Amino acid sequence: MKISPKMKKALNDQVALEANASSSYLAMASWCEVTGYEGGASYFYAQSDEERTHMLKIVHYLNDMGATATIPATKAPATSYKSLEAIIKTALKSEQTVTAAIHKMVEIAQKEKDHSTYAFLEWFVNEQVQEETKFETLLQKFDLIGRDKLAINEIDKLLAAQAAAPEAEPAA
Ligand code: FEO
Repeated sequence: MKISPKMKKALNDQVALEANASSSYLAMASWCEVTGYEGGASYFYAQSDEERTHMLKIVHYLNDMGATATIPATKAPATSYKSLEAIIKTALKSEQTVTAAIHKMVEIAQKEKDHSTYAFLEWFVNEQVQEETKFETLLQKFDLIGRDKLAINEIDKLLAAQAAAPEAEPAA
């Protein structure tokens, strides 16, 4: 194994975090779909797929390092939400948790002089900046456009447009 047991555990914990994020975004997408937020549904289905690709990146890295990934059980996500805004707030909170976990892993890699994992994590550090900014900007829209039915419909359209636009890869 080319990484320490501590690093292996942290990366496997991250696999679980990304898997839970994927499943939680899937539940949000499904709620949006049945509630009539078509844009929100497309947006969060895509976000769920994205989290799965994050999880897979770590699974492959662990296996490539001879550390063996553990595929975790996922927690059952919430089945109903208060509003589109509440979903985006929850998403931002979840991304902040992921960012903190990634930063912790970077610190472990630095401490252990694990240059491979440090380089591997750089993509995630940049990705998290994009993820948090994305949800912060969406939340601002509720203050800027409003919270009445027409405003929410505009925000839903915005989500549809963003879901259709290809997302820029973070700089590695
Ligand atoms: Fe994979 Fe959105 O953190």
